[in-house]
Amino acid sequence: MQFDLFDGTQNKILDVKTYAEFKQALAQSNCAKCALSDSRRHIVVDRGNPNAKVLMIGEAPGENEDLQGQAFVGRAGQLLDQLMNDIGFDTNRDSLIINVVKCRPPENRAPKQEEVNACRPFLQKQLALTKPKIILLLGAVALKHMIVDKKEFSMREEAGNFFDHPEFPGVKLMVLYHPAFILRDPRKKPVMIEHLKRFKAYLDQIERT
Ligand code: URA
Repeated sequence: MQFDLFDGTQNKILDVKTYAEFKQALAQSNCAKCALSDSRRHIVVDRGNPNAKVLMIGEAPGENEDLQGQAFVGRAGQLLDQLMNDIGFDTNRDSLIINVVKCRPPENRAPKQEEVNACRPFLQKQLALTKPKIILLLGAVALKHMIVDKKEFSMREEAGNFFDHPEFPGVKLMVLYHPAFILRDPRKKPVMIEHLKRFKAYLDQIERT
């Protein structure tokens, strides 16, 4: 846990015992640890069920998320919900969905490294409080920032494979195409559906054991 002794607001948010307390504290915090606070309307903490076995991690809130204060509620989120629903997975019941950064970058640009770093303690607190069994990394930006030793990679090779990582003991990770990428290139949809079926088969297996 990264504690900054001089940042009272951050420490108050991190010094909570339950996920519900964390969510409320962060959402209401008016956090200004990075420049994204200048233009955001809401701090987008998550969407879904913090008790679920599956944690999905996306990139950053977009316009709809910023307006509504909920993760993945725009077009990409609706596609994600639909693809997941087709494999019998309810994103709100069966997963918690979060982002690498909690505030919308202007013009939906990728978050900068310093923004990711500033937000990192909140993401780590989410991991610590939810203890997921499976983490789905949605897209290249999530992969790059969550698996820091992955410097160069191709999504075509990474997407759809389960892997372990020493930073996440006891957790299976899988990289998926970001649903916004599927919206831009629908030819990739059948491949993503195959990856989702693989994920669901693994989830069903751990539910049985
Ligand atoms: N894209 C993301 O990566 N996250 C969201 O919450 C919405 C769109």
